[in-house]
Amino acid sequence: MVVHGDAIDVLERVVEDESVHLVFADPPYNIGKSFGEFRDKWPADKAYAEWCYQWLDICLRKLADDGSLYVMTSTQAMPYLDLWLRDRCSVQSRIVWHYDSSGVQARRYFGS
Ligand SMILES: C[S@@+](CC[C@H](N)C(=O)[O-])C[C@H]1O[C@@H](n2cnc3c(N)ncnc32)[C@H](O)[C@@H]1O
Repeated sequence: MVVHGDAIDVLERVVEDESVHLVFADPPYNIGKSFGEFRDKWPADKAYAEWCYQWLDICLRKLADDGSLYVMTSTQAMPYLDLWLRDRCSVQSRIVWHYDSSGVQARRYFGS
């Protein structure tokens, strides 16, 4: 089933608590990318993190006891999400996508 809507609203309304075995979240990363009318940029990192905490909190409530959560995020946002999640569930691993940034490499500093 595909449900189109605001994640926070849809997750609360459509998904039963403790019913989900796998959550895979690929949210906006707060890096200024445009998706149609939506621009992936919050006024401050903290505001972005607070928004993530809202939907992550719901995701954790929806997970069954043996459920797993995979969360994609940017290098910049990872500390906020990692610290928050560590207080609430067991983080088993951090998977790093090693790729060549589509040929756009940083020349004057270390890239991600
Ligand atoms: C990093 S992209 C994910 C792309 C997706 N994995 C794909 O392959 O199409 C983040 C997506 O989240 C959507 N989005 C932004 N705010 C949202 C919200 N409040 N609820 C649900 N989706 C949202 C954006 O429009 C964008 O399509």
